[in-house]
Amino acid sequence: MSSYLDLTIEGAPPAPSCINDSKPVTVPFVRAQKGKEKLTMLTAYDYPTARLLDESGIDMLLIGDSVATVLYGEDNTLAVTMEDMLRHVKAVSRGTRRALVIADMPFMSYQVSIEQALTNAGRLLKEAGAHAIKLEGGEEMADTIRALTRIGIPVVAHIGLTPQSIRAEGAYRMYGKSPEEQQMLLDAARAVERAGAFCVVLECVKEGVAREITRALEIPTIGIGSGTSCDGQVLVTQDLVGLTLGKVPKFVMPVASLKDDLRQAVQTYISRTKSIPAQATMEKMEIKPHASSH
Ligand code: KIV
Repeated sequence: MSSYLDLTIEGAPPAPSCINDSKPVTVPFVRAQKGKEKLTMLTAYDYPTARLLDESGIDMLLIGDSVATVLYGEDNTLAVTMEDMLRHVKAVSRGTRRALVIADMPFMSYQVSIEQALTNAGRLLKEAGAHAIKLEGGEEMADTIRALTRIGIPVVAHIGLTPQSIRAEGAYRMYGKSPEEQQMLLDAARAVERAGAFCVVLECVKEGVAREITRALEIPTIGIGSGTSCDGQVLVTQDLVGLTLGKVPKFVMPVASLKDDLRQAVQTYISRTKSIPAQATMEKMEIKPHASSH
């Protein structure tokens, strides 16, 4: 499979045009990128990561509910609470100057009623500083998306593999293999667009189907494991930079191995510390402690 990431790994690609462009990314900007320069989105859950990614020129930062599996060591995303999200979104907002900050709505924070969805989405914008929210689902979420966008809360939709449905689906898999499922995905994409979503994440959607959806919609599609035709790409940052301890999805193609760098750094620190003679030895040998020791 040829990939958009090949450029990053093998060559010395030109610096993205956005690095020197300090104008904040807005919802209209994202919409206007449809079919133009590809959009970039990565996850961030904390202040330093947000700052580093933002300063590197990323367009959108997603505080994903993947925080559950990536940071908390959970098996799935179901346990994330509004309080968890509020803390992480606040930290990311503080570290961001240019990127659009998108907060995932946790499982059961928007499905109970439209009123509940409005209240919780409002908290993510008002209390934590998110610029937009993301929620999972197609046609069944259309009324909720409509209600949110009507009161000025921008929505990113998310279809295909929707991790919050893991209990119903039983496993993570590719979507769009059968003609029926392809039609369902296309209908879902059209439904969220009609309802007012300003872009849609396509997760693990077969490449040809993602291409067809991208062509059919006026809003940008952001792919993850869905091939290269989407208008943008999103990944979990830890997967991309080699910080994930578990299995990394095949489509990721990590660009660094920070896990190894971290281990190496810790081992250097351990050896450096252990190489300092004990106090009694120092006294016996009349060695003076180093003024600038760590
Ligand atoms: O929670 C998350 O990180 C996500 C992305 C992987 C799209 O939803």
